[in-house]
Amino acid sequence: METTEGVGRVLVIIPTYQERDNVESIVGRVRASVPQAEVLVADDASPDGTGEIADRLAAEDDHVHVLHRAGKEGLGAAYVAGFRWGLERGFDVLVEMDADGSHQPEELPRLLSALEDNDLVIGSRWVRGGRVENWPKKREALSRGANTYSRLLLGFHVHDSTGGFRAYRATTLRKIGIDDVTSQGYCFQVDLTLRTIRAGLKVAEVPITFVERTHGASKMSRDIMVEAFVKLTRWGVEGRLGRLAGRDPS
Ligand code: GDD
Ligand code: MN
Repeated sequence: METTEGVGRVLVIIPTYQERDNVESIVGRVRASVPQAEVLVADDASPDGTGEIADRLAAEDDHVHVLHRAGKEGLGAAYVAGFRWGLERGFDVLVEMDADGSHQPEELPRLLSALEDNDLVIGSRWVRGGRVENWPKKREALSRGANTYSRLLLGFHVHDSTGGFRAYRATTLRKIGIDDVTSQGYCFQVDLTLRTIRAGLKVAEVPITFVERTHGASKMSRDIMVEAFVKLTRWGVEGRLGRLAGRDPS
């Protein structure tokens, strides 16, 4: 089996919904920047034909795969299905990356080398050296606010726990368990961060430059924000009650 940067076999999972104008470019950039890695596009039956484009890419390249899902069920569900697919096939590292170019594949080798000494590596916008390009002020405020809220409420020191450019060791996902994950939207990222920390595993943040998309639209919605606020608050309160009662909050 091929290996990458000493961390083993790498699967890059790219969830897509309506990413017709992005999918080919992002897959090509991943293949160029980490040639040993395989790619799994997890498409939720996008009506715009993203899945068909991914099928063509997979037919042309044996390192590219497609997971067709029945309909739009959210980012969390797509990643859980993608993780299962990769764990069943023996990958050692599972990478999360957006399809729209916001996460730059050229930065992936840095995440993978940091994984050599860690169990989860998060590409971070909100540590020294991290940046966002072309993000509306409102969106930046939302992300900073959600991250500050998470940090204060959940008591961890991660500065970009909502970020979706990350690398997990397979052992991490097996240890934290993904079968009972119900987070659908972007709070999925905080959910898995919290599980990893509560399992006593090592999390590192490496600075990235997040570039706002130029094609297609964000899937951020009011429902996603409400779900995140409700779940974060619940995890925080449960953790505090657990500590008061002297129980392990996990
Ligand atoms: N399969 C599938 N199903 N993919 C989805 C779904 C879904 O229901 N919803 C979103 N995606 C895919 C998009 O197609 C894209 O590839 C990726 O998930 C991220 O979605 P965007 O809509 O581009 O996210 P964003 O730019 O608003 O949000 C960014 O910031 C969030 C908060 O910090 C992303 O980096 C998120 O990962 C991050 O949580
Ligand atoms: Mn995006």
